Amino acid sequence: MLDLTHYLKTRQKQVNDKLMALFSPIEKKKRLFAAMQHSLMAGGKRIRPILCISAAEAVGACSDDVLTVACAIECIHTYSLIHDDLPSMDNDDLRRGIPTCHKAFDDATAILAGDALLTLAFELLSTEFLSKFHPENGLHVIRLIAHASGPYGMIEGQMQDITAEQHRLTLDELENLHRLKTGALIAASVNTGALLARATDEQSHLLNDYAQKIGLAFQVIDDVLNIKGDPDCLGKAVGTDLVLQKNTYPGLMGLDTAEKKAHQLVESAIESLISFDHRADPLRSIAEYIVQRDR
Ligand code: IPE
Ligand code: IPE
Ligand code: MG
Ligand code: MG
Repeated sequence: MLDLTHYLKTRQKQVNDKLMALFSPIEKKKRLFAAMQHSLMAGGKRIRPILCISAAEAVGACSDDVLTVACAIECIHTYSLIHDDLPSMDNDDLRRGIPTCHKAFDDATAILAGDALLTLAFELLSTEFLSKFHPENGLHVIRLIAHASGPYGMIEGQMQDITAEQHRLTLDELENLHRLKTGALIAASVNTGALLARATDEQSHLLNDYAQKIGLAFQVIDDVLNIKGDPDCLGKAVGTDLVLQKNTYPGLMGLDTAEKKAHQLVESAIESLISFDHRADPLRSIAEYIVQRDR
């Protein structure tokens, strides 16, 4: 039996050490780097980089093979949180248990810190692929991550999230929004690990099935935790979706049905991995963790 707590701790440390190494003592003194580091090193769960690593492991690669790429994905995720929290977006004061970037610094610095993390991610990716992987494989990964985080993925999801504050979406529309704003980058994390580990077409297809399902489940539970989560544990405010009149799963179908929906998605995600051996156990356990988490 896999000890998920231990697994997550080990992988989080690997990711954190690698991310920390991005900041030299001289750079740390610069305002821009201080703001980037403030949000990046504040103690996120590191689910996306860990999923990238676990997917690679499921098809026989090891964590070091994909660590830099996994960290680039975390940079993109952290940038998205910095911008998501801005006064003109969700206007949040607390993130990862500390003041949001614009609160600790100012709006302009937070915008720039987000821009810098996004750009840095693609510098990390291209540097890695120039030195390590087959360039063609590398270009595929860069394209996959860019597609998921850009106007065909996360940014379009964020746009829909903001514009839908004015009206009520149908369930299909909300599912599409959640798949874009959160599911796309989560799916890209898994699919990147698979691609780097040279998964077969069949393995890639099954891992993508798994990824799509946990990606949606992740945001459904984020919606649930915004209602019944403990802000101290979450490190961010709760009740904010209601105040901002966000479209959410619990808002549309009720809390219990939303939780059931997330559990079904996770069960089905785990079924997608039926033909994988014990090396996919971390992916199986992470799927369960996504619906059981309290932060
Ligand atoms: C929060 O993501 C924002 C969403 C896309 C739902 P996480 O719950 O992964 O946040 P961190 O990285 O652990 O802070
Ligand atoms: C965040 O979604 C999605 C992205 C940052 C792309 P939410 O706004 O629902 O997430 P939280 O609740 O602020 O973490
Ligand atoms: Mg938001
Ligand atoms: Mg938000």
